[in-house]
Parts: sequence; structure tokens; C-alpha cells
Amino acid sequence: MVQNVAGVLPELEPEDFHLLSGIEQGMRFSEWVAKEKIPKFSRLTAEEVDYRIDRCLDRDLIERKTIQYEGYTLKFEGYDALALHSFAERDTISGFGASLGVGKESDVYEVQSYEPMALKYHREGYTNFREVMKERDYTSDRDHVSWLYTARKAAEREFESLEALYPQVSVPRPIGQNRHAIVMEKIDGVELSRTKLEDDQVRPVLGLILREMRDAYDEGRVHADMSEYNVFVSEDGITIFDWPQAIPTDHENAEEFLERDVENIVGYFRRKYPQLVGDADVEALGAALADGSYDSVGEFVDE
Ligand SMILES: Nc1ncnc2c1ncn2[C@@H]1O[C@H](COP(=O)(O)OP(=O)(O)O)[C@@H](O)[C@H]1O
Ligand SMILES: [Mg+2]
Repeated sequence: MVQNVAGVLPELEPEDFHLLSGIEQGMRFSEWVAKEKIPKFSRLTAEEVDYRIDRCLDRDLIERKTIQYEGYTLKFEGYDALALHSFAERDTISGFGASLGVGKESDVYEVQSYEPMALKYHREGYTNFREVMKERDYTSDRDHVSWLYTARKAAEREFESLEALYPQVSVPRPIGQNRHAIVMEKIDGVELSRTKLEDDQVRPVLGLILREMRDAYDEGRVHADMSEYNVFVSEDGITIFDWPQAIPTDHENAEEFLERDVENIVGYFRRKYPQLVGDADVEALGAALADGSYDSVGEFVDE
């Protein structure tokens, strides 16, 4: 588990961030950055580097390894500190709050801005390095691959998708992105997986979700990880979140991914509410979402 660095941040001095960002720079070339190279990357003197290394080691922001040479690498905490520091400098964030959720590949916290927001740190490439490596897409355009790059790429992709979709589609409003972190609107709601809908709400809620999927397709995106865990339900409606793996609709398999998303979400409703949701023509439904003709759930899903 990655520690919350918010508490450490006030203790850090500008030179500590220079050290962290120096190591970050060096990690573009190798996972363990040789100590001799850190003064150049961080623009600190060798003595200053020694002093800052000790401070950052003490706070668990970096790690040391000595094999052929003495090398240093950022821990996720160090990378978190850099991202959080940037948001604070840009005035995107003025305070830090409680955890909102720990996902498969993320840590999400409440943060304070001009209103409460959600900060999501991406953890791809660290918790699940091998899975991500299998998905060539993530890594194909770079030879040296580190978790830093993978996690940052995921955050960039998610932010890009949110920007493309908001406000036409009901997704969290994107506020900012830095490194592997994004700040977005905080959604007050309950995950679909944790709700027990009233009978007369079941089909309308499924209908709302499908409509958002249709509109997302129209804006050029297929979510590609749709499930009851990535939909919030509230009095105001539904919100679809967790978009880092979204694919563009001009991707050759876009319709396949869309069908799989439909299958996942309709399948969930069928399992949870079998007396209300029957067989569905998933293929026809997918096609209708893609060409924009989808209008109501009744046409495609039996009662
Ligand atoms: N904008 C948000 N507002 C409030 N809570 C959120 C928000 N985004 C994510 N969360 C919480 O954090 C958890 C993990 O986020 P998610 O984007 O699904 O990441 P993962 O890829 O790890 O599944 C969610 O299940 C949810 O409870
Ligand atoms: Mg999720």
C-alpha cells in the first residue's frame, strides 16, 4: 500500500523537490539513477544532494540500491509528492482530505479546491506491471518502460477522455492533470455495485447508463472497462467514471469493446434483477449505441 504523502508535504523544502525531480529525470534513462548523476539532473551540489537524499530516504520518498553502483529511485510516495506539490503551486489544491476509494489501480482522495474535488493517483505499472505489459498499447512507443511512464500515461489518457466527454456525457468534470495524478469533480453518489435499486428504478437506471454510453460513442469514446464498479448512482442520475483505458471509436475493435461493455452492464442487471431484466440482444444494442439510433431500453432488453 502506498502511504498518503499529504502529511509529509509541509516538511519538504524546495531543494527536496529539486532532488525528487532530479531523480525523476534520471529515471527516463534507467530505473536506478546513479548518485554521481543526480547533481546534474537536480542542479544541486554534491553535498546538497547527500543531505537531501537522507531527508527523502527518512520520509520514504525514495529508495537506495547498491549493486554495481549506488543508485536511487523514486517510490510512488516520491512521485505523489511531486504531483501534489505541482497542484499546490498552481493553486489547484489547497487542502487534503480523506480517502474516497482504493481501486484496482489507483488511490483516490478528497482534496480541497474552491470546492471539494477528487484527486486520483494512478498506480498502473506498479501494482500490476505484468498485466500492463501485455497491453502493448501502453508501452509500444517507448523502449525504456518504467512504472512512472505507465502511470503517467494512464492519467493523461483518462484526463484526455474526460475532457473529450465532459459535459456532453455524465462524467466527473476534469480540473487538472500532473504526472500520474488527475484532479476532477468529486461525485457524491454510491457505486452501482453497492446500490439496491427500487423495482421501478431498475430499467430506467439501465436506460440512463446505456444512453450515456451512446453519447460517449458519439463523442468518440468507448469506455472499455464498463462495470457496476465504475458507475455512480445518485438522486441526480448516474455518472460514469474510471476512463484511462477508453479507446477511440475509430479503433478497429471499437464496436467489439462497446459490445463487451454492453454485455458487462446488462449482464450485471440481469444477474442482480432477474425478475425485471431478461434476455437482451447485445449485438443489436451495441450497433444502435454506435450509430446513435438507441432510444429506449425496452426495444432491446426483455422484461
Ligand atoms: N470523481 C470521484 N468522486 C468520488 N469518488 C471517486 C471519484 N473517482 C473515483 N472515486 C472512488 O475511487 C474508487 C477508485 O476509482 P476508479 O476511477 O474506479 O479507479 P480504478 O481504476 O482503480 O478502479 C472508485 O471506486 C470510487 O469509489
Ligand atoms: Mg474502477
